[in-house]
Amino acid sequence: MSDLHVGSGLFRADLLEAAIDEANALGPDLVAVPGDLTTEGYRHEFEQAREFLSRLECPSVLVTMGNHDARNVGYRHFEDFFGLRERAEQVRVPEGEAKVVSLDSTKPDLDEGEVGREHYSWLDSEFRGWNQGPRILLIHHHILAVPGTGRDQNNLRDAGDVMAILRELRVDLVLAGHRHVPYVWSISGVRVVHSGTVSSLRVRGTMPPSYNVIDLDADSVRISLRRPGEGEEPLAEFSREPVITSRFHPALDRFVRYDMLPFTPPPGA
Ligand SMILES: [Fe+2]
Ligand SMILES: [Fe+2]
Repeated sequence: MSDLHVGSGLFRADLLEAAIDEANALGPDLVAVPGDLTTEGYRHEFEQAREFLSRLECPSVLVTMGNHDARNVGYRHFEDFFGLRERAEQVRVPEGEAKVVSLDSTKPDLDEGEVGREHYSWLDSEFRGWNQGPRILLIHHHILAVPGTGRDQNNLRDAGDVMAILRELRVDLVLAGHRHVPYVWSISGVRVVHSGTVSSLRVRGTMPPSYNVIDLDADSVRISLRRPGEGEEPLAEFSREPVITSRFHPALDRFVRYDMLPFTPPPGA
C-alpha cells in the first residue's frame, strides 16, 4: 500500500483504516509502503502516519521515502519515526527468505527521483547471488512509465541504468508508488508493480484509491487490486520464474559503471 498522503484535505482516514483492517485479516508476510506517507513532510503528518501503520499486525512493515516526504526537510522526521531511510532486510516467506531492499529515491523538494550512482554497488552487493527466496526492491518513483497518468515529468532520472542493474541482478519484484495508478510491467524478467494511492483522493481520472495484494508461491505470482472496503479484482498473474526467451549479450559495465565509495581510489590508481 502506497501514497497514504496523511495530512491534506484529500486524505481519507476511513480508507486507510479499512485497508489496515483488511491487511490484518490477510496476515501477510510483508507490508510494503513505498513512500508518500505524508503530504508536506511535516512532523505531525509523519507522527500520524506512524500511528496508523503501527496498527498493522505484520512482523515486517517496510517503509520508504516519497517525494512528498522529502518536502520541508521531512527526511529528518522520517528518520525519527521510521528509522533508516534505506535498508536491506530478510523477510521470512513460504519459499524461504526474501531479500527486501528499501531505497530512498527522493531529492529534497523535487518531485522527480534518482537512485544515484553511489547506490549502485550497494544494490549489487545485496542482491547478487541471493538465492534463498525472492529479490524485492521498494522504491517510490516509477522506473517505467505508468499509463493513464498524464505527462510524465517526475520519473526516476536514472531509470535506464537502474533497469539494467535490476535485470543483471535478476530482481523479481519492484514495488513502487508515486503515480497513484496501479499498474504492472513485466520486462526482462523484472516485474515492476505500482500501487495506487491507498487513502487519498489525489487520484487520476477514474482510478479509485487502492492497494495491491501480491500472492507469491513457488509456481506463480498473482496480484490483485483492492479498493479499501470495496472488494478486489485481478490485476496481473505471472509464473514465479520469469520465462525469458531473449538474450542480451553486452556486459552491464558497457553501459553502467558503479561509483566507488567515497575516498576509495579507482582500480589501478
Ligand atoms: Fe503520492
Ligand atoms: Fe510521489
